[in-house]
Amino acid sequence: MTTNDALVQRADDLLAKMTLEEKAGQISQYFYFRGWTAQNELVEAQVRAGRVGSLLFVADPRETNRLQRIAVEESRLGIPLLFGFDVIHGLRTIFPVPLGMAASWDPQLYERVQAIAAREARAVGIHWTFAPMVDIARDPRWGRIVEGAGEDPYLGAQIAAAQVRGFQGEAIGAPEHVVAGPKHYVGYGAALGGRDYDEVNISESELRNVYLPPFAAAVAAGAGNVMTSYVGIDGVPGAADRYLLTDVLRGELGFKGFVVSDAAAVMDLVTHGFARDEQDAAVRALRAGLDMEMWTGMRIAPGADPTPTVGAFSTLAEAVRRGVIEESLLDEAVRRVLLVKLRLGLFEQPYVDEAAAGTILNDPAHREMARIAAERSAVLLRNEGNILPLDRSAVRQVAVIGPLADDRAATLGPWVFAPDLNATVTVLEGLRRTAGEGVRVEYAPGVPMPARAIPSPFASLAQALGMPASSETSFDEEAELAHAVALARASDVAVLVLGEAADMNGEAASRSTLDLPGRQLELLEAVAATGTPVVVVLLSGRPLDLRRVLPLSAAILVAWHPGSEGGNAVARLLWGDATPGGKLPFSWPRSVGQVPIIYSRLNSHQPSTSHQRYWEEESTPLYPFGFGLTYGQVEYRNLTLSATQIGLNDTIEATVEVHNVSARDVEEVVQLYLHQRYGRAARPVRELKGFERVTLKPGERRTLRIAIPPSARRYWSKADSAYVLDESDFDVWVGGDSTAALHAEFAVRSSTV
Ligand code: NOJ
Repeated sequence: MTTNDALVQRADDLLAKMTLEEKAGQISQYFYFRGWTAQNELVEAQVRAGRVGSLLFVADPRETNRLQRIAVEESRLGIPLLFGFDVIHGLRTIFPVPLGMAASWDPQLYERVQAIAAREARAVGIHWTFAPMVDIARDPRWGRIVEGAGEDPYLGAQIAAAQVRGFQGEAIGAPEHVVAGPKHYVGYGAALGGRDYDEVNISESELRNVYLPPFAAAVAAGAGNVMTSYVGIDGVPGAADRYLLTDVLRGELGFKGFVVSDAAAVMDLVTHGFARDEQDAAVRALRAGLDMEMWTGMRIAPGADPTPTVGAFSTLAEAVRRGVIEESLLDEAVRRVLLVKLRLGLFEQPYVDEAAAGTILNDPAHREMARIAAERSAVLLRNEGNILPLDRSAVRQVAVIGPLADDRAATLGPWVFAPDLNATVTVLEGLRRTAGEGVRVEYAPGVPMPARAIPSPFASLAQALGMPASSETSFDEEAELAHAVALARASDVAVLVLGEAADMNGEAASRSTLDLPGRQLELLEAVAATGTPVVVVLLSGRPLDLRRVLPLSAAILVAWHPGSEGGNAVARLLWGDATPGGKLPFSWPRSVGQVPIIYSRLNSHQPSTSHQRYWEEESTPLYPFGFGLTYGQVEYRNLTLSATQIGLNDTIEATVEVHNVSARDVEEVVQLYLHQRYGRAARPVRELKGFERVTLKPGERRTLRIAIPPSARRYWSKADSAYVLDESDFDVWVGGDSTAALHAEFAVRSSTV
């Protein structure tokens, strides 16, 4: 008997002992928030009765142990609980937000980062993370663009797989690792108007060529879980889409783990106008291939009834008795959940070592990795006259200005629930620590960061978890503005830290503009008018409208929400102790009116005027996908291909030389783009199909080889309702962003001569 067979046998032995209520409970997951007393009483009673399989939102090892003891020692069968949590970009040590991590174009780094996040999570008793979010996002109005890898399916797939490997390690059950749950299956990023949870309309081709590849990559990397999305395609909500959950996810992608709904998404089947009632919702979700319901316990929408209730899946016992659904379907879902618990070794060791947790959470190696990650994720958009790096010997005073310069919450960003806020290094602190003797660092916030006009529905949840609201300071605005201007005037350089507060992106944080919130632009204008050179450091989870920022800034460094060590990383980049090399994982629009705007578009009538589609402004992005500067200069030379013609199933290899033609170290992401000239469907003008981040010493030359396998040419053809490989002619470009000009071409024919 294989190990797997033995585990299945153990799961089946347990199944044979379970009542229908225990089975339904085993596939029910509940919110457990500190302070939600009524809810928590209900949940604990359910745990004791063996009617809960999993809890989310507990990150205190004493609490996970206490609750686990109820399950193991007080419930009839003693089946341990599975603890899930949104470990999105770290638990205690916070790394850059995922969009920033994607901008590092460094999957190996991301793997190491998520392994650390997993280590911290596992130390407190968390077994499973609701990450990575692998939704392709092409509309920056959507607040959740911050949680993913941006617009591109190829980059998204590499980043997705790396995160799964990092979280899970070798296999589910690896020590100090957790189960990864790529989400939100699928198409959530295409919400109309960028409005969270809104309708999605995508074609089968777009689904398969754009939205599915990161999920396929995450599944291929062994993801043990998948979370469904709040939205639906063609009127079928994600939690009940049998075609997508069973035919595609399990049938085509070969997914072997368990599927969880998003929070309350089974109950939502009624809200959608899809299911008749709770039981109908539960039955149809289970039948579609959903294995576990994530239930909030109470309606968390403003004004909703706060009385805690059990989830829709609790009706499944009765549904089986009434013959509405086969018990075997229930068993299948329960088996999948039991199997993950068995693989994790929870039956052998359900508890964590509370004393050891603190040491792991405070491991200095984690902080070091957070700093490196923040350095590698930053994107330098502009550096006029090489103002950066700042010269310590020429600068006597730095004015650090802006509402985010000393804002710890904004330094961390959204989706953090258990960080050590006091240990978060802001840009101001980072600059102070690293300035060195003889350089004064002075600070003025200038203007306050405004609160959201429409408050976040999660403000109270964040509070329950002990997270502070973004630091909204009340001060005399005119005096502060004047103070900032005076400070800038008296300084050699002004570092303006601008952008968005933590709660301005993430879930339920969509925007209708991409403007700098509040009076930040006014602050920038006033500071720039002093004539002191301005370096803008942007903290944000999406691109912002920089049209009026550009002419006023000598340099712009996008730091995203850089995490616990963000300030140290930004400071080291500004001083040149570290070299920027991140690249944009999306096309940076000029204005909100352009969105969605992507580089991998289709050609149509008059492509030569495609930059002139609007009459008042160029219809190109402000910065192209893949763009980012470094200190120093790179040149690409001698692009060659290993053949001029290949067969349909052959791999071709591109070779290119990258030269550092400057006197500084450079960081560069070498990118390869592909274009098919004709075929069964028109294909995008170019698509990313390979990349590699390199560091080059002054004068160094590197020859890189990038393979273009048949999978790079494979796409979903509507005409065939299948994935196809076409005979065609192909263009290849290699360079430092998606406008790369160095070109080569090859042909694909079914038989090579
Ligand atoms: C809702 C979000 O959509 C999902 O991403 C998250 O994992 C769950 N809530 C749990 O917090």
